Amino acid sequence: MFLVSLLVLLVTVVGHITLCVAIINRIHAVDWPRGVVDGITAFLGIAILFGPVAMVLLLAMSGSESPGKWPQFLSAYSGACSAVLLMGVLLRIQQRFDPERRGAIRSEKVETLDLRERMGAQPFGPGLSRLFGRLPGNQILRPQVVERELNLPTLKPELAGLTIAHLSDLHMSGRMGKEYFHEVVRRVNAWNPDFVAITGDIIETEECLPWADEVLGGITAQRAKYFILGNHDKKNLDPARVRQALAATGMIDLGGVCLTTEVRGQTLQWCGNEAPWFGRPIEVIDDSLPTIALVHSPDQFDWACRNNAMLVLAGHNHGGQICFPLLGPTVAPSIQGVRYAGGAFRRGQTVMHVGRGTAAHTQVRYGCPAEIVLLKLAASEFGVVG
Ligand SMILES: [Fe+2]
Repeated sequence: MFLVSLLVLLVTVVGHITLCVAIINRIHAVDWPRGVVDGITAFLGIAILFGPVAMVLLLAMSGSESPGKWPQFLSAYSGACSAVLLMGVLLRIQQRFDPERRGAIRSEKVETLDLRERMGAQPFGPGLSRLFGRLPGNQILRPQVVERELNLPTLKPELAGLTIAHLSDLHMSGRMGKEYFHEVVRRVNAWNPDFVAITGDIIETEECLPWADEVLGGITAQRAKYFILGNHDKKNLDPARVRQALAATGMIDLGGVCLTTEVRGQTLQWCGNEAPWFGRPIEVIDDSLPTIALVHSPDQFDWACRNNAMLVLAGHNHGGQICFPLLGPTVAPSIQGVRYAGGAFRRGQTVMHVGRGTAAHTQVRYGCPAEIVLLKLAASEFGVVG
């Protein structure tokens, strides 16, 4: 009977952690006051750490050996946690076979960089960043340079071969040295892309506002550079100042607007949607034009599909930052949990590319390197699906 009790306890603990992480993911997907989100996150963090200890102590004090004799409260919570775990497992299986994951990427070329030597002895800011940065096996200074060709079902032949450097979640805060971002800019410029698109969480702190000019000002594109902001761009700074600093470098602020540009005799529409953190999404866009949408949260995929966007570029989820073997990512600040943690997805005529992030807010990455991405647009081999 002791073994059965131990097994039920194990299921309860894993379900308890699953429940806490699922709530953390969802509350970071909405525009609640920062104090509320941080407070709930801290509470759930403590619950993850000490919940299992409390359960063991409760069982030891009650002296009950079989699960049928557990204290009533613990039995009820164990049932709830088991149900959550079962739901989590079923969702994982469903996501593994998600048809949206198929067919969006035509080809991929990946180069992994090792910036550990080049970044010098102190590549990270003080405190926890430095501690995290030095953890063995941490991939934070080993970003990937990725060329990814996307199958777009509605791409006009005239636009085939256009290139977009997609950067996201740079999190310039001083926790990661400036040289890292100079390397990002060098890599982007080596591609000489048609467009550059940055999908939010760009600058976090006052001391890094000048990096807009000093670093990002050095990015070049043949046609245009666009940006939108993310939740971290208003965490510590007035977002108007971030917009101003970025716009001063020649980048175009797409926050809440649609703009058109002429490319190879075709009109291409670019729309920015910073919901839920800045205003509401634009509800009516000209869906007769081929549209590329910039969103921070992949939760805006529904919006993009409703508006017949050809391509959506998103970030925010960082690929999960830590991906476990077999299990994959567990943390992604999305209403959909880890479904859109990173990668390319296709629903009907709309393809969404979710970047894993050019850098990160917290200096830890395992099984999930940052990426500097060049997207190449290709007409779909598969035609319109779904
Ligand atoms: Fe981010």
